[in-house]
Amino acid sequence: MDYGCAMGYFSIPLAQMTGTGGKVYCVDIQNKMLDKLQKRAVKYGVSSIIRTLQVGKNYNAIDLHEELDFALLFAVVHEVPDKAGLFRDMFAMLKTGGKVLFAEPKGHVKPTDFEKSIQLAKTAGFIVSEAKPMNDGLCVFLVKNPDL
Ligand SMILES: C[S@@+](CC[C@H](N)C(=O)[O-])C[C@H]1O[C@@H](n2cnc3c(N)ncnc32)[C@H](O)[C@@H]1O
Repeated sequence: MDYGCAMGYFSIPLAQMTGTGGKVYCVDIQNKMLDKLQKRAVKYGVSSIIRTLQVGKNYNAIDLHEELDFALLFAVVHEVPDKAGLFRDMFAMLKTGGKVLFAEPKGHVKPTDFEKSIQLAKTAGFIVSEAKPMNDGLCVFLVKNPDL
């Protein structure tokens, strides 16, 4: 899942990596962005892999349970009012052992606010499996603990 996908800067390569045996759910509040993403998916030959989903501004739960292997939360969590709800629902949507790459832009998000979001992710049940997987910026890997 690419949550907060916009026009799919990451969704297209995620779909190329996933291949025709899988699906990439692309979620955003902006229908305009999802329309652009669908056009780009056709252009790049991955439209059969991509499923676009529009959600409401205050975040509403998506009806998926223990289905996801991986989710990307890139430069979006700081825009979501109910961060705790997002992490809780993300936890429920992932398979046991599923991973989230959670990253925020340094310019917009203070390290202390990033840390607060990580605490919300931990409250939802995630553990931090790798801090700083990318050299620069605010970024962690979260994992749905196989022991839970
Ligand atoms: C800064 S952009 C990042 C786009 C993309 N992840 C990237 O890194 O290229 C944030 C995106 O998150 C979307 N967004 C904001 N609030 C959201 C919410 N509550 N649920 C889902 N998407 C949301 C915005 O519409 C926008 O497309």
